Amino acid sequence: TSLARFVDPLPVPPIARSVGHRAHPAYPGRELPYYRMEMRAFKARLHRDVPPTPLWGYDGLFPGPTFETRRGEPLLIEWVNALPTQHFLPIDHNIHGAEHDKPDVRVVTHVHGARVQADADGYPEDWYTPGHSALYHYPNAQDAATLWYHDHAMGITRLNIYAGLVGTFIVRDAEEQALGLPTGEYDIPLVLCDRLLAQDGQLYYPVSEDPSAPWVMQCNGNLPLCNGKIFPYVEVEPRPYRLRLINVANTSFFDLSLSHDHVFQQIGSDQGLLSAPLERARIELYPAERADVVIDFSALAGKSVQLLHQAQGILEFRVKNSGRGTTAALPAALRNIPRIDPASAVRDRVLTLNEVDDANGNAMMMLLDGKHWSDPITENPRQNSIETWSFVNLTGDAHPIHLHLVRFQIVDRRPFDLFAWNAHRTLKYTGPAEPPPPHEAGWKDTVRADPGMVTRIAMRFEGEPGRYVWHCHFLEHEDNDMMRPYVVLPAHS
Ligand code: C2O
Ligand code: CU
Repeated sequence: TSLARFVDPLPVPPIARSVGHRAHPAYPGRELPYYRMEMRAFKARLHRDVPPTPLWGYDGLFPGPTFETRRGEPLLIEWVNALPTQHFLPIDHNIHGAEHDKPDVRVVTHVHGARVQADADGYPEDWYTPGHSALYHYPNAQDAATLWYHDHAMGITRLNIYAGLVGTFIVRDAEEQALGLPTGEYDIPLVLCDRLLAQDGQLYYPVSEDPSAPWVMQCNGNLPLCNGKIFPYVEVEPRPYRLRLINVANTSFFDLSLSHDHVFQQIGSDQGLLSAPLERARIELYPAERADVVIDFSALAGKSVQLLHQAQGILEFRVKNSGRGTTAALPAALRNIPRIDPASAVRDRVLTLNEVDDANGNAMMMLLDGKHWSDPITENPRQNSIETWSFVNLTGDAHPIHLHLVRFQIVDRRPFDLFAWNAHRTLKYTGPAEPPPPHEAGWKDTVRADPGMVTRIAMRFEGEPGRYVWHCHFLEHEDNDMMRPYVVLPAHS
């Protein structure tokens, strides 16, 4: 595009502030910090030369305010729907959960990667209309990590997130703090996505050729956004910075590198720190994946460096001549990550990823294990048990698969014979199992399931029993119908 590069400063979302304290039944005799987060329609300039864009956002911001939380310090958030009653993006009323009898504007917020009780997880059918709210309890009983929050309303998640309903949710803990990583103003969330914009600044969401069935199977923008700005710049001091990269795009992946062959030190992934820093020239992030990186600008005083996506500069770092910061070296080790032994799993669930085409070969919908959202629940692990899930990808594309509630480890990816599967539903492997590369060997909550491969993950179902979901995080797929409920059954006593 012809938009001027690097003319807007990078916005850093404000920190969410609690507005009081409240009691909660899970904490008798105690009051928890209480936050109130209103979803509102507003307009914002995404670029100096683009007219203001109508958006929806938490607290009227895109991205919304950043939650700063600490492990073991629970809090309450009231998610308030203060949106208009009309949607401004094209709802497809053929999609399950978005039929004509459903109100247009419905929301429910999920904190992606949070271990919460089922009633605070943002179950897609727990949506509510303008004028209503939901009070959710977050125990934060989990390791330090970069989580994010976003809408999850049944059948319109892709539109609500595209409209701007996203934000960052950081969990910190003492173990991470003891490592002396860059903190405060040197620790910046970088929320990445892309959008299509019309000349007048309106968001454009793509539609199919059939006006009565507008759903499309993917939505790739042409403008990359960093913290809600197109091609921003940021002034940094000549010292290391921690950047929390979060891909909140509907379908696009980011293929990130730095100009002048500078490198990232990756220190974390979806669910917190890796076992040791990794030097990386390129980082690929599928939707919902995160990478925590340290970039060291110490030797670059007076210079500039760009963050590139597929060789195109999307953010410019302008390094000042001096700064106040110190240059602490990264620790050689970050934390111990005990491997889950897949042999300790009480069961392996083999689950297919499917694309359903019409007679002309156009995708009509996407499914998990050939089942619809509304089919009876089939995934029912026991609380605290270990399982492996094997995603057999029968489609031609990679899909980012996400489970609510749990963190998992990638066991391996292994090529299989698609024809043998289609003919007799038998898994015939055609090559050796590949263990995850080091940057995927930490705790994850979203995994890229490659085409032609069986992608196996292992997890312990820690957390409260109840009904959660798992789904593809391509939002177009998730909405139609690549999402399934699952239930965590109470542990045997
Ligand atoms: Cu990022 Cu089901 O969510
Ligand atoms: Cu998908």
